[in-house]
Amino acid sequence: MARKKKTSKKFAKRPKSAKPAKEEILLQPPRGMRDILPQDQPYWQQVRRVSEKAAADFGYRRIDIPLVEFMNLFSRSIGEGSDIVEKEMYSFSTKGGEKVTLRPEFTAGIARAYIQHGMHVAPRPVKLYYIGPCYRYDRPQEGRFREFFQFGCEALGEQDPVIDAQMIQMGWRVIYQLGIRNVKVYVNSIGCPACQKSFRNLLVHYFESKKQKLCIDCKRRLEANPLRILDCKEDKCVQVKASAPQSIDHLCDDCRMHFKELLEYLEELEIPFELDSTLVRGLDYYTRTVFEFIPVSLASPSLGGPSRGESVSENGEVKKKNALGGGGRYDGLVKMLGGEDTPAVGFSLGLDRLVAEMKKLGAKFYREPKPKVFLAQLGTFAKRKSLRMFESLERAGVMVAESFGRGSLKSQLKVADRLGVEITLILGQKEALDGTVIVKDMASGNQEIVDAGKMVDEVKKRLKK
Ligand code: HAM
Repeated sequence: MARKKKTSKKFAKRPKSAKPAKEEILLQPPRGMRDILPQDQPYWQQVRRVSEKAAADFGYRRIDIPLVEFMNLFSRSIGEGSDIVEKEMYSFSTKGGEKVTLRPEFTAGIARAYIQHGMHVAPRPVKLYYIGPCYRYDRPQEGRFREFFQFGCEALGEQDPVIDAQMIQMGWRVIYQLGIRNVKVYVNSIGCPACQKSFRNLLVHYFESKKQKLCIDCKRRLEANPLRILDCKEDKCVQVKASAPQSIDHLCDDCRMHFKELLEYLEELEIPFELDSTLVRGLDYYTRTVFEFIPVSLASPSLGGPSRGESVSENGEVKKKNALGGGGRYDGLVKMLGGEDTPAVGFSLGLDRLVAEMKKLGAKFYREPKPKVFLAQLGTFAKRKSLRMFESLERAGVMVAESFGRGSLKSQLKVADRLGVEITLILGQKEALDGTVIVKDMASGNQEIVDAGKMVDEVKKRLKK
């Protein structure tokens, strides 16, 4: 007798009519990403306006580059051993099999565009600025997001340190004009490839002798990229690197002169800066000048010691862990990517961090211009006519508010009151048929009937008063 085949519950066939269970839609963006809501936009708008004005004042022209580039552009430029490339890139293969990455920063893409569009024939330096989102799969925490925004400037084709100073001046000016005054510039020079080679050997020698005290990542970095150890924020590595050799003590004559001139320019500009021998920055393309804009506060014993990632200097200043921006020279990048030998320097500011700092300090934000006129209407015919009226006012440069969706005149006038407009125009059925409109002065409450054809001139005349 044939035995009936038993199917376990797990492999039981779904009846043909049953649909696969739908995955739940999470009503939130992926971790480390967020919405920037209308109530926060005045801060963002202020940051964008101040940044773009500074860029224009210093002769920088806007460039937009794709959010997605080929992966190896970033891995070669930023460096295989860097945290960004090792751990933080959003990389994927397209349907066509291309390996691409969401940009973790702009500089590599700018250098690519500079070569691709033959910008080397333009008058030097080629000055470009950008603003937009970047992506790093980092561990989200205060001031650190997976989607964040940068504003930055790059000058390609000039090696004079005066441009380095100007870059610092520009970043500093943007931060200052946003009302953030508790910031210092930390600078260092990591030299040219020749200086870096001998400095690297010294570092390896030093860190080899302290290898046991380094974190696991740094033990690996010792082989791959010892300079990155100076970047490590692990407490034990911070202690070891405090007595490590310093790059500025091992610069060649040209690099030393370059750095000395930069510092003289900074003094001339009266920008508060400090030398930081451990500053190497987390990207491999840097040569010579590197700098960061970091908020500082005075150490307060009542608030306890510095938090993780913060440090206290000899003069009692607490250097906060999150830089508002950073940059430096990358004299070898364009050539490495296949272009001509092109010295270059640039910086980027993190807009998310600027906004957070502005809020913390109660800094001024951008105030949208407010409408001075409200257009109220009553009845279907009047509503139709008021659409046209709204457009004529807008075209004449008069900002108008309305609430077309509301029915009663009373509720519309309430909105007008709340907005604090100077004039309310009322268009009822009768006025719409007569070709007139009631002009109400909100301060005095006086009303006047005006010919609809003369309405725009009348409004402008009254607003001028
Ligand atoms: P960076 O230091 O990697 O440099 O980033 C610049 C700024 O972007 C940081 O100082 C910070 O304000 C902001 N930022 C970076 N990562 C995050 C994050 N996960 N969340 C929030 N903000 C962040 C660069 O990107 C270089 N391309 C700068 C440069 C331009 N060097 C030469 N030219």
